[in-house]
Amino acid sequence: MSQNTDFIPYARPRFGPEEEEAVLRVLRNGWLTTGSECRAFEDEFAAFVQMPYAITVSSATAGLHLALLGMNIQKGDRVAVPTYTFTATAEVILYLGAEPVLIDCAPDTFMMDVSILDDLILHKPNFLRAIIPVHFGGQACYPDFWSSARDRGVKVIEDCAHAFPVTTDHGYLGDLGDIGVYSFYANKTITTGEGGMVVTRNPQVAQRIKTLRLHGIDRDAFQRFQSTQPAWFYDIVDAGYKYNLTDIQAAIGRAQLRKAHTLKQQRQEVARFYQSHRESFPGWIFPDHAGDCSWHLFPALCPRAEDRDRIIQKLYDLGVGTSVHYIPLHRHTFWRTRYNLKPEQFPVAESLWQRELSLPIGPGIGLPEAEKVVDRLHKVHREIYG
Ligand SMILES: Cc1ncc(COP(=O)(O)O)c(C=O)c1O
Repeated sequence: MSQNTDFIPYARPRFGPEEEEAVLRVLRNGWLTTGSECRAFEDEFAAFVQMPYAITVSSATAGLHLALLGMNIQKGDRVAVPTYTFTATAEVILYLGAEPVLIDCAPDTFMMDVSILDDLILHKPNFLRAIIPVHFGGQACYPDFWSSARDRGVKVIEDCAHAFPVTTDHGYLGDLGDIGVYSFYANKTITTGEGGMVVTRNPQVAQRIKTLRLHGIDRDAFQRFQSTQPAWFYDIVDAGYKYNLTDIQAAIGRAQLRKAHTLKQQRQEVARFYQSHRESFPGWIFPDHAGDCSWHLFPALCPRAEDRDRIIQKLYDLGVGTSVHYIPLHRHTFWRTRYNLKPEQFPVAESLWQRELSLPIGPGIGLPEAEKVVDRLHKVHREIYG
């Protein structure tokens, strides 16, 4: 079947008049790049997650890079990352000449095995300089572990790309480590098309990230043109980057931020609906989290690895888009060959990814779409398993 109007994509952004009006407001006021909308977005986001500093960036990838610079990660330093993630989490480490250390998943979860990290920190002091945990799919990655890692001298940068808004007993994610980095990429829980936000409690780190975000300039362009000092005056205090967000994007982000709880509620409803049908899919494992979750993803495990690709194709033919999260990093040519990695080194990730398919969830997916997904998945399940 070719794609038709009945096709349910695995993720689909949805905007309303609020986002349209926000874009028009910026176009009409004439200041397009980083300015008052970015500043308002930062203030509103900081208030939302109850953090003192929030800094807009052009993507979470840029934010992770800046976070590593903010933590003063140097050439040769080792930074632990899960193998079960998107390549952005690890690639930024190479930007600094540092080395990623890939960590397997904890049994039955898609997230970093913190017992491996605990062992490394205990038995190889000074081996790890930093860790980047990923809150996979929007569940909090072992929230009680990170303060002990920090106490033992390891920097912690949370990859919150999937996890807005999510709380634990410690508050919003992004506050468990030294820095948190959110993504507003097109398929994320709130979006600006491309974009991200860095949060921290450390004023010096916040200032350094802010400076590096825009060419190492000591005050951003908007400040230059609005301040009482002559507009031409600025100073370069570092070799920075072009990692700023535009006001057009920030205006969309502010409108999205106001809907963040409602959008999350809709994803929760869809996740609960899928879960309520779990019994009718023998052999499948559906995610079920005890704590809070943003439900950015609904990663299901099919009964047998050898059936996964066939199930994806059959669902597609019936008009359901799915995706795979993730082909783990150790399976990709670049990471595999650079570090001579073997699948046997990551047995848990191996047991998961080959059975995984992510069912549709997100702003464009309501209960009517979820019902169709379940109907069509039943059909595929019956065809394969009788
Ligand atoms: C876990 C994770 N980290 C980082 C990123 C990078 O986000 P961005 O596209 O905003 O750079 C992504 C993007 O999908 C991601 O899934």
